[in-house]
Amino acid sequence: MTKSNAVLSPFKKISLKGRDLLTWLDYTTEEVHELLSLSEHLKKNPVSKKLEGKTLGMIFEKSSTRTRVSFEAGMLQMGGHAIYLNSRDIQLGRGESIADTAKVLSSYVDAIMIRTFEHEKVAQLAEHASVPVINGLCDMYHPCQALADVLTILELKGKLSGLKVVYVGDGNNVAHSFMILCAKLGMDVVVSCPKGYEPDEEIVQATVQLAEGSGGTFTVVHDPVEAVAGADIVYTDVWASMGQEEETVERLGVFAPYQVNDALLSHAADEVNFLHCLPAHRGEEVTAEVIDGLKSAVFQQAENRLHVQKAILLSVLGG
Ligand code: CP
Ligand code: NVA
Repeated sequence: MTKSNAVLSPFKKISLKGRDLLTWLDYTTEEVHELLSLSEHLKKNPVSKKLEGKTLGMIFEKSSTRTRVSFEAGMLQMGGHAIYLNSRDIQLGRGESIADTAKVLSSYVDAIMIRTFEHEKVAQLAEHASVPVINGLCDMYHPCQALADVLTILELKGKLSGLKVVYVGDGNNVAHSFMILCAKLGMDVVVSCPKGYEPDEEIVQATVQLAEGSGGTFTVVHDPVEAVAGADIVYTDVWASMGQEEETVERLGVFAPYQVNDALLSHAADEVNFLHCLPAHRGEEVTAEVIDGLKSAVFQQAENRLHVQKAILLSVLGG
């Protein structure tokens, strides 16, 4: 799908009509700020008819609670409709190609969201679809999550630039999108992970460049105590992502020193907030005391998935 030169509504300074969202690497800082402003507006004004008659197709090759329900509810709240397509039930699961699926779905729906394994599959879908494609999580990125994370940080702290945000745990899809977006927005970003579980090297390089351009910083620090020193935000995710179930036992051992607990958080700023994309495993990557404690903002963060995805949908659909 390509960018169009749509006439802008008075609210919007930039048109994102027709754009895909595969990774925040493809978006400018200004575009991200525009999406954040629209998310705040939609959080205050949730119901409209702006997407009346529009349909979102949602392909899922992995489980989901938040992504599925928030995309579907978001479309309904704006007068549109969403169709849940589990890959087990559609012909994609029986070997129909991504290209053919993209072309056919494009003739029925106005946008496609996909949750899958390989990033290449999302890219192929976008290449062959004539409607916008939104990445609802792949093994490399989780962009919708990162926008919700950043909106939550903005709500909690009243600013973004200059904050120290620390992701502790596996250098995975959630870490990638979080570090890219936070570096783009001028934050001091630290990822703390065991050796061998660092974020992807190309994404690290891209993030370093983004930080240089925004006045932020990006570092990988293996020692979690050193990493969280003075942190405004501490974020973690599961140690074994979907598709890594066979590595669960091994990872429990490797990641044990990276558990976010009260002892680790005592090294952060007094006003630190804890974030987690959910679902969480209490007693593994985070203790119940932390995730259910006063510093945790995980349910505000989960709610924000709804608001930011509505902003994304409205923007790429030109509603
Ligand atoms: N955080 C997130 O994407 O949750 P789901 O897997 O429930 O969609
Ligand atoms: N990293 C996790 C995120 C789940 C929302 C996974 O990919 O399973």
